Amino acid sequence: MSQQTNSAWGGRFSEATDAFVQRFTASVEFDQRMYAQDIQGSIAHATMLAKVGVLTDAERDDIIKGLGEIKADIEAGNFEWSIALEDVHMNIEAALTAKIGITGKKLHTGRSRNDQVATDIRLYLRSEIDHMASEVTRLQQGLIELAEKQADTIMPGFTHLQTAQPVTFGHHLLAWNEMLERDFARLQDCRKRVNIMPLGAAALAGTTYPIDRAMTAELLGFDAPTENSLDSVSDRDFAIEFTAACSTIMMHLSRFSEELVLWASAQFNFIDLPDRFCTGSSIMPQKKNPDVPELVRGKAGRIFGHLISLLTLMKSQPLAYNKDNQEDKEPLFDTIDNVGGSLRAFADMMPFVVPKKEVMREAALRGFSTATDLADYLVRKGVAFRDSHEIVGSAVGYGVKTGKDLGEMSLEELQQFGDMITDDVFDVLTLEGSVAARDHLGGTAPNQVRAAAKRAQEKLALR
Ligand code: ARG
Repeated sequence: MSQQTNSAWGGRFSEATDAFVQRFTASVEFDQRMYAQDIQGSIAHATMLAKVGVLTDAERDDIIKGLGEIKADIEAGNFEWSIALEDVHMNIEAALTAKIGITGKKLHTGRSRNDQVATDIRLYLRSEIDHMASEVTRLQQGLIELAEKQADTIMPGFTHLQTAQPVTFGHHLLAWNEMLERDFARLQDCRKRVNIMPLGAAALAGTTYPIDRAMTAELLGFDAPTENSLDSVSDRDFAIEFTAACSTIMMHLSRFSEELVLWASAQFNFIDLPDRFCTGSSIMPQKKNPDVPELVRGKAGRIFGHLISLLTLMKSQPLAYNKDNQEDKEPLFDTIDNVGGSLRAFADMMPFVVPKKEVMREAALRGFSTATDLADYLVRKGVAFRDSHEIVGSAVGYGVKTGKDLGEMSLEELQQFGDMITDDVFDVLTLEGSVAARDHLGGTAPNQVRAAAKRAQEKLALR
């Protein structure tokens, strides 16, 4: 990057900016990624200025042509970003003036970098939200399809990470889908407040030119212009909201990750992760490490950090724009990159997670997972639930001592704990009987899982 004196605001200064301060205050190294939005905003602004008579049509056309060439230069790698020009906005404006002469200097009429940057971020974020939402959808698609295939696969369900009751693997996957369904809704909700246009607020108070903000908003695809100029240039709520929605996504992905890591371990051995999503160890030849879920679990921490950074950035800030706000970009961009990457990795990997059905089933058979079914059975035989809980507790105690699960005991053994037990008890002590009995909306029965997967698919189809 080259260093030159800043002609955009150098007028009242009697000495050049200190070289370190120039680098310290510049944002161009990270905000240049908004070049397309900056150009898009400038084209709309120039179009509006011509419409209200502030620019001539010829000036407008020169500006639009020049900006188009600059965009092409940037994309071809032929653009030299300059630290002295501080940020993406002044770099592009200076390049425009270099290209088309004095008309380039008219582009900034009736606006300020304060409303310009606020507009650029919203445009940029809007398209990133759309991309992220489509990755959430792709991940959900993979989960639902896998859930449908695994509607009959039985595994232990856990509370306190202790075997609780048998569930179907499909049911477990659809629990993840519900989390993502809410994440998608949060992104859409946040988008509504992102898609409002601050341009026209100028530095803070508005402008003396007869601007048409509704026109600019429409040209840029915003739902409406903002209502208050002071708020427009200072508001970063939308970035906080977005990072909060992303933090919740990462919290969810970290939960999926944790389970995948556990399940892929030799101790659980419930699933196989595709080799291409794992790595080996340089010292232990036998290792296949679940790096993707581990890394996603780890990345959750930095995203939560960005949320706190942005909240703290805005805390106690007086109206209106303050240079503090330049610090919004790195946390926001890092959030976009890492949450986008995590969603992509999960969406790519999920359809290829292979359950080891026999191991899951075997695990569900251990740990007295049908104890609640036995208790419910006794209630159907007229025993009060608290008493039946007590009876089953004794049977489990006996099982622990003898090393037998409930389904492995003989009728005589079971009858020591209650003579109302007859041989129909074995229907409820099987895993299939246990899951099939939870046959209501939201339950784990295979036919409920299939119906839930179908409803989930239908919802995705409406997006
Ligand atoms: N680079 C600045 C930012 O990111 C642009 C706005 C600067 N405005 C100003 N008055 N210094 O916030």
